[in-house]
Amino acid sequence: MGHDLPLSFVVVGHVDHGKSTLIGRLLFDTDSLPDGKRDELIKAAQRRGGAGIEWSYLLDAFQAERDQNVTIDMTHIQFQTLRRRYVIIDAPGHREFLRNMVSGAATADAAVLVVDAKEGAREQSRRHAYILHLLGIRQVVLVINKMDLVGYDPEIFYQVKADMLSYLGSLGIMPAHTIPVVAREGDMVVSRTGPMDWYQGPALCEALDGLELAPLPLAVPLRFPVQDVYKFGDDRIIVGRVQSGVIRQGDMVVISPTGERAQVTSLRVWPDDSAKIIARAGESVGFTLDQNLYVERGHVISHVENLPILSSILRATIFWLSSKPLQLGSSYTLRCATHECLVTVQSIERAIDTQDLARLDLREAVTKGMVAEVILRSRDRIPVDSYGEHVSTGRIVLSEGLEIVGGGILHMEDIVSAQRPLTHQAANLFAVSHMVSYEERIRKYGHQGAIFWLTGLSGAGKSTLAMILEKELIERGYGCYVLDGDNVRRGLCADLGFSIDDRAENIRRVGEMAALMSDAGLVVITSFISPFAADRERARAAAPARFHEIYVRADIAECEKRDPKGLYRKARAGEISDFTGIGSPYEPPENPDLVIDTALSNIDECVNKMLNYICHHITLVAEQESHRAF
Ligand code: ADX
Repeated sequence: MGHDLPLSFVVVGHVDHGKSTLIGRLLFDTDSLPDGKRDELIKAAQRRGGAGIEWSYLLDAFQAERDQNVTIDMTHIQFQTLRRRYVIIDAPGHREFLRNMVSGAATADAAVLVVDAKEGAREQSRRHAYILHLLGIRQVVLVINKMDLVGYDPEIFYQVKADMLSYLGSLGIMPAHTIPVVAREGDMVVSRTGPMDWYQGPALCEALDGLELAPLPLAVPLRFPVQDVYKFGDDRIIVGRVQSGVIRQGDMVVISPTGERAQVTSLRVWPDDSAKIIARAGESVGFTLDQNLYVERGHVISHVENLPILSSILRATIFWLSSKPLQLGSSYTLRCATHECLVTVQSIERAIDTQDLARLDLREAVTKGMVAEVILRSRDRIPVDSYGEHVSTGRIVLSEGLEIVGGGILHMEDIVSAQRPLTHQAANLFAVSHMVSYEERIRKYGHQGAIFWLTGLSGAGKSTLAMILEKELIERGYGCYVLDGDNVRRGLCADLGFSIDDRAENIRRVGEMAALMSDAGLVVITSFISPFAADRERARAAAPARFHEIYVRADIAECEKRDPKGLYRKARAGEISDFTGIGSPYEPPENPDLVIDTALSNIDECVNKMLNYICHHITLVAEQESHRAF
């Protein structure tokens, strides 16, 4: 075998199907109970007049020990066969179990799925199986328990087996073995005992001994989620756990999301060991870099050749745990490796009923126990991976306050390309200083540079207003330019469509462009639907002091009535699939700097209100004061 690592597994199954008894029996029959516990059990059984050992009592005893120093409600129970050591990852109740599994507190190499022979697969059997599928636990042993209650009847065994295999099969899970067991009596647990000669396969322990240990992720690319940065004198030590791959002294590494590069100068362990020049997956280490870069908790260190995906759009499959439904548009705290941030549910692509795997047409809310494919949005880009490639950075937990409300895995495959070029371009750049300052520029032009960001539905009147404002401002002597969606999309953004990703990129480019133009001293008016709050916030972040959000408001019914370009009609006819307001959402600003209601006011009124606002904000302070003086 050559290794001495234990194989870890979970025992899952519907409540009362015999999970605790099976664990108790495994410990008892492999002689793995703590000193004295075995005798105690036997004595207790004798006292009760030979009623047999009360197995659940055994786990209760574990529970009592656990209660004394609870940090996380989960135990690691150890036992051993002749072949190897095992760790059973257990939790006291169904809820805790789900939470630990879904949140990644428990990671297992394998699973034993227990189904009652008499009752067959039940709700929780399916739900647990689904989680195994979600987390990619492929090694499963199916135990059909309580065979004594069905008279050891092979027909019933085959029936329950077929039923469960068909469900597991549709999840892509092929159990290594299906074993008839009487956990209470120990039949087929450690060895082939009990009146079931019709069964030719291995007992449970033999089946477990045949499973493979998950290989340590050494040969895969490096992921080092930063836990903390310690300062010791001049040294800044970046600490964390190598989640995959290896990190060596002398390696060139990249910090995500900043994209900055540096060389690893030394590895630090405690106690000090200058001979330590390599750390592998699973090791917790510290290291220093040859440059004083900005690194903090939540950043991810990788090698240059294989970077995590940087994105503010996350496609995830999540298992929902909270009795309060997952709502479209609501925000949750997301944890991914050591990174924590706020995310909003941008869309619910579909929901899946774990019972029959039916696809539910739910777009608004997902209730407890369901699995949903969702798109989440964070304000800033965060370093993540697809779960299929990197477990640690591909797994997420959602919480609300202190409660873990859901968890799941990321599928970033189709989101990669949009972000990668940015990561690549971010290297070897050196900001150059202008010889003319912004202050000198605006003194020359006689007004401030600024961005007036119009947002609203198609047909709300953004472009009409923007073009009138531009003309009025130019006539008054201001340098002004309108960036308009339909125009920009012919050039700068000609490669983009109307998917969520493409709209995000559209608004990102325009936000950066507007920031540059306002820095040049111009008054920029932008006219874009910009339906997503997160995108607008990012545009604001490009030039926060000069950014004004103006909500050009007209409701969907009004815009559809106007339908200046005939697009609403086309969208209703199904010719445009993701038209804003029909097939794609619009998130109105929560705190706009100005609201212009084009359904209530006529064009002149709107223009006047906007001109007042704009002029007030672009007038130079000195000038304002001189006005006041007269
Ligand atoms: S945004 O969502 O990325 O901000 P933008 O303002 O650039 O959109 O472009 C909107 C314009 O594109 C609309 O005025 C309309 O003329 C055109 N358009 C074409 N298809 C769509 C669509 N699916 N949704 C919204 N606008 C569309």
